[in-house]
Amino acid sequence: MTALTLALSKGRILEDCTPLLTAVGIAPAGDASRLLRLPTQDANVELLVIRPTDVPTYVEYGAADLGIVGKDILLEHGGEALYEPLDLGIARCRLSVATQKDSPLVKGGLDAAGSQRLRVATKYPEMARRYFSARGQQVEIIKLYGSMELAPLVGLSDVIVDLVATGNTLRANGLVEIVTICESSARLVVNKAAMKMKHAAIRALLDRFTLAVGNV
Ligand code: PRP
Repeated sequence: MTALTLALSKGRILEDCTPLLTAVGIAPAGDASRLLRLPTQDANVELLVIRPTDVPTYVEYGAADLGIVGKDILLEHGGEALYEPLDLGIARCRLSVATQKDSPLVKGGLDAAGSQRLRVATKYPEMARRYFSARGQQVEIIKLYGSMELAPLVGLSDVIVDLVATGNTLRANGLVEIVTICESSARLVVNKAAMKMKHAAIRALLDRFTLAVGNV
């Protein structure tokens, strides 16, 4: 049998995917909190546990044959070099613009900024740039690597562009969403060369995923 490697990310995706991986028959068979390479219930499938933003790179270079990654990451970092055959329908969230609840932007929307050049804190600079440029609104993008919610509270930015799932993090920090930029969910991606070279094995695994997505 052809061996396959599937890359996925720690945290939200791994947690949300575990029931699906179990239904597909590739549940991790080791300590997913420590090991970076994990065997699964299926002797022919190995998991790599890496950072979300690294999943497209591992799959693009063929270090992993397949990957599970959020659409938000594919849109921000580019997923053109990969096949994206399946929306797994899990890890659902949205990329939104949010600000402090007492900001005039809450009532008036982004137009209320007038000629003010908003400062936008985000770890999605590309998505933010595209969104504001499509609106014809000049902004200053401030790239952060985490805890975006803090930026408006300490005057680092006027708004943030960040993922919202339950909305709990925004609420806890006195922030509200003004606009949704796009919706996201976990996608199965496949290396293009592997799709040719290991076609039968990948096709069979894709079929197992497709069946499980309908049943989980
Ligand atoms: C994301 C996002 C928010 C939070 C939103 O962070 O950046 O902080 O989740 O989720 P909620 O609406 O359910 O509260 P994540 O936990 O993925 O970690 P990160 O900040 O390291 O990206």
